Amino acid sequence: MEYKIADHIAAMKPSAIREIFKVLVDPEVIALSAGSPDSSAYPVKEMAEVGDEIFANEFVTTLGYGTTEGYTPLREQTKKRLREKYQTGTDDDDVIITTGGQQTISLFTQTMINKGDVIVCEEPSFIGALNAFRSFGAQLKGVPMDDDGMRMDLLEEVLSTTKNVKFIYVIPTFQNPSGRTMTLERRKQLLELAKKYDVLILEDNPYFELRYEGEPVATVKSMDTEGRVVYAGSYSKVLSPGMRIGFCLANKEIINRMVVCKQVSDVHTNMYFQMLVSKYLDKYDLDAHIKEICELHKIKRDAMLKALEKYVDPRVTFTHPNGGLFIWGELPKGYDGFKLCQEITKKKVACVPGNAFLTDENGVSNGFRLNFSMPSLENIEIACQRIGETVAEFLK
Ligand SMILES: Cc1ncc(COP(=O)(O)O)c(C=O)c1O
Repeated sequence: MEYKIADHIAAMKPSAIREIFKVLVDPEVIALSAGSPDSSAYPVKEMAEVGDEIFANEFVTTLGYGTTEGYTPLREQTKKRLREKYQTGTDDDDVIITTGGQQTISLFTQTMINKGDVIVCEEPSFIGALNAFRSFGAQLKGVPMDDDGMRMDLLEEVLSTTKNVKFIYVIPTFQNPSGRTMTLERRKQLLELAKKYDVLILEDNPYFELRYEGEPVATVKSMDTEGRVVYAGSYSKVLSPGMRIGFCLANKEIINRMVVCKQVSDVHTNMYFQMLVSKYLDKYDLDAHIKEICELHKIKRDAMLKALEKYVDPRVTFTHPNGGLFIWGELPKGYDGFKLCQEITKKKVACVPGNAFLTDENGVSNGFRLNFSMPSLENIEIACQRIGETVAEFLK
């Protein structure tokens, strides 16, 4: 049987990093490749308690269909928290619950993109978003970053010379994969440029509450007065990723269109987990929980930064993220991060090569991403030592 796969799906390549990830089946491999918070930080006891209450009193509700927009109390709690704590959202906006932040990205893309439209992204950027964009037939344009986030001079160059740009995709806080945070100044410039060239912004901000040092930076959405910014958030990194509870805050007109797309996608997000999050928020203090996660993750971040400094040749640079889950390494120019990761794998450590995060699937990157939240402190030390040994041989 010859299957006539849709052109834009057929054009998507199976990822080369799959080969590297095959090693993950070996239990001896230390994985620095994941994107989850430390599982010991999941509020297991509290969730079990809330779950028992749901089973005892409201189980029948979880078994029925819900509304596509999401469980109303959770929508209201989410909207209120964004509005009161982060001055994010206006009366013209609405919130829907999505099946993870990932679904916000794909529903918004499905809502906005005609085949061939352009999405401008940070370079490097989150592979899950890049693949969602590709799957809807979008063309991707990458804009390089520096330590302050996406370079606005280069963004303007792209916007002024590229037709059919629909939106700019940014992960402004503790970016995946680089760990970098866009400065307030740049966020303002981003909004100005989006206005000037009349394009939308998709602000993907799942890590912003995982801050281990420094002052919070206002969300781009909080400075948006005209409904230009669509905000993707998630409970994955502050509660647990397996529940698949995310949300989208955007102008009501966009939300209504996304709801139509969600109706033909999964109808609504799993009722049980929506209710679980809602009741958790009612009963427990999410901020106190986040404070605990941050304390735990800060220790791991510091341990990894220290071990990288101790073991790895100083010609390799590493970002110093003030939060989030990732550190980004860069080899000197001309060296290939993919090849380095292949070598590191031989020493039973898995990390993600930078080319996985490029808008050009055939591109070469001197970067690589390290996750510090999942491995134990002991394994962080061992993994960094092995990375250091591999780098020493690699740079010879
Ligand atoms: C930048 C970014 N956006 C969105 C997501 C999606 O997260 P989820 O669908 O679990 O909310 C992730 C997950 O790793 C991410 O790194």
